[in-house]
Amino acid sequence: MENNSILITGASSGIGEALALEYADFGTHLVLCGRNLARLTHIANSCRKKGATVHDHIADVTDKEAMNNLIHAEGPFNIVFANAGISGERGAGFSKTTRKIFSVNVAGITNTVIPSVETMLKNGGGQIGIVSSIAGFRGLASAPAYSASKAFVKIWGEALRSRFASSGIRVCVICPGFVESRITANNDFYMPFLMTASRAAHLIRQGMQRNKRLIIFPWQMYLAIKLLMLLPNIFFDYLTNKFPNKE
Ligand SMILES: NC(=O)c1ccc[n+]([C@@H]2O[C@H](COP(=O)([O-])OP(=O)(O)OC[C@H]3O[C@@H](n4cnc5c(N)ncnc54)[C@H](OP(=O)(O)O)[C@@H]3O)[C@@H](O)[C@H]2O)c1
Repeated sequence: MENNSILITGASSGIGEALALEYADFGTHLVLCGRNLARLTHIANSCRKKGATVHDHIADVTDKEAMNNLIHAEGPFNIVFANAGISGERGAGFSKTTRKIFSVNVAGITNTVIPSVETMLKNGGGQIGIVSSIAGFRGLASAPAYSASKAFVKIWGEALRSRFASSGIRVCVICPGFVESRITANNDFYMPFLMTASRAAHLIRQGMQRNKRLIIFPWQMYLAIKLLMLLPNIFFDYLTNKFPNKE
């Protein structure tokens, strides 16, 4: 089922930008959020050129009141993508990075999903895509907070899916591998099966249309992490400790 009123957080670059362009079409109303005005305005204009109506908002997902007000004012939406997220930056410091990642990737997702559920319940349903990561399948020494934050939203999203299915709210958890974006642009190591953001957005749209519980891609990365997880912890830790430390 395709729907026409869509909220995307983190729409000012990467996967969120590609999702905006993927869905932009005549008859679609997009509400796009981000913090960088110049990039967000540019993307909003590109979506308008494709025929969509667009409201673009500068909003920080860590601001609970701002997100609540925005979603109650602009909603209810047919589809919400809780996408905004960050990863670690080398050299930024362990404690600062850890708290920042949890604030955006956990509290930020929570601040997006809770008001979306509230408005969808009143409206008789909707669909929510929560962006997790293949990195959330197991704690990674190279990215403890990032992998934990993605595990949190995966488990929460799966539970919400079951909890609200009878209310017409379909929750899908999106678990990408490496995708070209501002996050991966900072990585100075080899990223297997790196895909373009537009390809990722297309796969996400297909998964949302099929209402998949988990939208995981690319399959090669999924297979690799499943095989790695079959290893005894001591071997898993030995191998993944070789990844460059991001936090
Ligand atoms: N790229 C990958 O390989 C990959 C893999 C798995 C999962 N993911 C997840 O995909 C999502 C999108 O990331 P991306 O890879 O597309 O990276 P990106 O290009 O850096 O995009 C991140 C987006 O999140 C926004 N954002 C960050 N902090 C925010 C905040 N406090 N408030 C509001 N917006 C904020 C950014 O907006 P501004 O720039 O305007 O601040 C930007 O639009 C993230 O949740 C990420 O963890 C990415």
